[in-house]
Amino acid sequence: MSSTASKKIFSLLFSSQLSNSIRLMSGFSGHKLVYSEFGEPIKVIHKEECITEAPKNNDVVVKMIAAPINPADINTIQGKYPVKPKFPAVAGNEGVGEIVSIGPNVTELKVGDRVIPLQSGLGTWRTHMSLSKEDVLKIPKELGIIEAATLTVNPCTAYRMLKDFESLKPGDTIIQNGANSACGQNVIQICRAWGVRTVNIVRNRQNLTELSDYLKNLGATHVLTEEELRTTSIFKKSGDLSKPKLALNCVGGQNALEMLRHLDNNGSMVTYGGMSREPVIIPTSALIFKNLKIKGFWMTRWSKDNASSIDRFEMFEELISMMTNNELRGPSHKMVDFDNFKEAIMNTMTVKGMIGKKYILSFSN
Ligand SMILES: NC(=O)c1ccc[n+]([C@@H]2O[C@H](COP(=O)([O-])OP(=O)(O)OC[C@H]3O[C@@H](n4cnc5c(N)ncnc54)[C@H](OP(=O)(O)O)[C@@H]3O)[C@@H](O)[C@H]2O)c1
Repeated sequence: MSSTASKKIFSLLFSSQLSNSIRLMSGFSGHKLVYSEFGEPIKVIHKEECITEAPKNNDVVVKMIAAPINPADINTIQGKYPVKPKFPAVAGNEGVGEIVSIGPNVTELKVGDRVIPLQSGLGTWRTHMSLSKEDVLKIPKELGIIEAATLTVNPCTAYRMLKDFESLKPGDTIIQNGANSACGQNVIQICRAWGVRTVNIVRNRQNLTELSDYLKNLGATHVLTEEELRTTSIFKKSGDLSKPKLALNCVGGQNALEMLRHLDNNGSMVTYGGMSREPVIIPTSALIFKNLKIKGFWMTRWSKDNASSIDRFEMFEELISMMTNNELRGPSHKMVDFDNFKEAIMNTMTVKGMIGKKYILSFSN
């Protein structure tokens, strides 16, 4: 073979578009974050080289761009989440990537399309994923990387909790704790877009004014600390604020109990997380005299039950439209290079919390 011919083949095989990966004849070489037992993520997760085979039939190969680290990812690796993967497992439940190869039967998608995985538990903390065309959603290129990478968990959870439990109208009020969480930030922004007022509970901290200003800038009507919630009179002042119809709880314990006290008769409290690890206690009077509805919500179950429902795709459409119109932006975050995954995991897991940002793995180098 002449040296020009061999150079041509070399450049075809090692396409410059594939930056940190090498395209082989039979697939794509890259890396993944795997674990083979439950335990402390920093100890059980390790980076492994891998080959993602060229796609067959209805499959596509997606080169990942970014994937967040969510509390549920940590709990899954610890073995404390109801989803128990088969070992060895690749961590990560959501993210965004670009199609780099399509199977022979794929006509609806093309190389270069930006997509997000539609199922959880597929293992997004890796450079390449082989997915069925049914398991990806094509998204517009103008959608921001952060918004796309974090779309399927928190914005969808916020959206469903605001839609499915109470019929909210402009001018209504909701109350939520963990208001500075990624999910809470979505709740605030969706409510602003829908004209719903939000009372947002956060833990006291040194930079409270900065946090409060950040949330108000997103559209928060009121931001209160847990302590202020106990004594607040915002719902008593006539004409100021109607009592909340809906309370969203991702903390539990005393904090959830305080929110219940302010909930309007016949209202709902939806529990979707338990960050304080304390149980939710419901006073008897809340059930008898206030007729409150006490519910739980799990996005994973909803998505499974509604995999191809119209509601699901309308939700994606509405959220993406809000994001591209700058009505809904991604959470406060820090991008961390894939190689520094340990730093990202450790920072996500600090015992005292108050991290202030979502850590997002970046696969772009
Ligand atoms: N059920 C579902 O389908 C579903 C879907 C999405 C999320 N979630 C849950 O929602 C919660 C938030 O998720 P995320 O991704 O939005 O999280 P995130 O951005 O990492 O935020 C974590 C939130 O938890 C608060 N927090 C941490 N430790 C706490 C403690 N000991 N007491 C009180 N608050 C504490 C943090 O407040 P500080 O700043 O004060 O630390 C922050 O507001 C998690 O529990 C997650 O599992 C559930």
